[in-house]
Amino acid sequence: MAENTAGAKIKLESPWRNDFPALQTTVHGGKTLAFLDSAASAQKPVCVIEAMDTVLRGGYSNIHRGLYEISQNLSQAYEDVRKKIAGFINAPSQKNIVFVSNATEGVNLVGQSWGRVHLSSGDEVLITGIEHHANIVPWYLLADQIGIKVKVAPLQEDGTLDLQAFEQLINNKTKLVAFTHVSNVLGIINPVKELVAKVRALNPEAKILIDGSQGIVHQSVDVTDLDPDFYVFTGHKLYGPTGIGVLYGKADALESMAPYQGGGDMVDLVSHIKGITYREPPYRFEAGTPPIVEVIGLGAAIDYVQGIGMGVIAAHEYALSKYALEALRGLDGIHLYGTQDLSRKAGIFSFNVDGAHSSDVAVILDQCGVAVRTGHHCAMPLMEMLGVDSTVRASFGMYTNKDDIDALCSGLRKVREFF
Ligand SMILES: Cc1ncc(COP(=O)(O)O)c(C=O)c1O
Repeated sequence: MAENTAGAKIKLESPWRNDFPALQTTVHGGKTLAFLDSAASAQKPVCVIEAMDTVLRGGYSNIHRGLYEISQNLSQAYEDVRKKIAGFINAPSQKNIVFVSNATEGVNLVGQSWGRVHLSSGDEVLITGIEHHANIVPWYLLADQIGIKVKVAPLQEDGTLDLQAFEQLINNKTKLVAFTHVSNVLGIINPVKELVAKVRALNPEAKILIDGSQGIVHQSVDVTDLDPDFYVFTGHKLYGPTGIGVLYGKADALESMAPYQGGGDMVDLVSHIKGITYREPPYRFEAGTPPIVEVIGLGAAIDYVQGIGMGVIAAHEYALSKYALEALRGLDGIHLYGTQDLSRKAGIFSFNVDGAHSSDVAVILDQCGVAVRTGHHCAMPLMEMLGVDSTVRASFGMYTNKDDIDALCSGLRKVREFF
């Protein structure tokens, strides 16, 4: 047992583990799998698998176009998920919810759709030094396409954002500020509400985008309270399927945006003579047949985590993080990156082992049945700042147990023996 922030006793065994069949998988001739790569993609609970299976086994059809019963039912179920997501993040309406294929598409959509209308040469987009490539490259694409400037707010030595420098980089040329909610490498939770308020105070005209890919997984998110113009996340890290993500946008922002892609379902009228008119948001941004089954799967995932409560999940992860931190600190030769202040960190640990390359560490851990991620984690600028080419990353999900962390530590002891 460990204590959570409120002092309550929390078990280090996940009560939800058996809901995730993939965790029964054994590797390397019968070893239990210690899956510590949830920040890359989470395992799926049975209810998500079954919801998708049910659609595919009966009632599947294309949506929005069929006048027959199964198409109408599925269209309704699909739109119900949009409403559910609005409720999950406390958006004013389901019209604020655009379905995209993942967080990456969400950011690119804002870049190409909002950016191409509202930005011109010399305008500035401010990001930070901790971003995932998904919140870096789309802005450099715009820099190449229309000559905007990308500015980067630096980090402090412990990986947290340098708030003073961040503020100093905001001026009247700043048109958009985009930052992550939680770092996929260091687990650092940005003070997003404070950052939004700072941007609003310094330049009320600037739009704000939060990359919530990791943030949505580890705590409850209220976009009305946080007040960004855009919030993006991806379904597969939230125990849902791949191929589906969400772009939340404020109504005025979405209405001011041109379509991102053209095709079926996003138009009111297409005529070679009269021209083309587009549907209102969010449909204007959803060209072509959408990921229907994946939307249903994401809806089931949201029902699942909401039924448990994001706060309850966060408390479990906090207890595990506390245990993991003590265990990792108890090992020789482990260099942990970023602040280890757990009040501002989700269950994501990046480290290197003295004298061993991260890939060798990951290979040895794999032989012990421990799945971790290694590399630059799509955050090369952060690696540059840390002065390394890669790290080993262990990341937790709601199903992670003390045993997984013990397996990691036992594997790391073997690495130390080997090197
Ligand atoms: C912080 C962050 N942003 C964006 C992404 C991109 O997510 P996706 O590949 O699902 O678009 C990730 C995925 O690792 C992430 O961790």
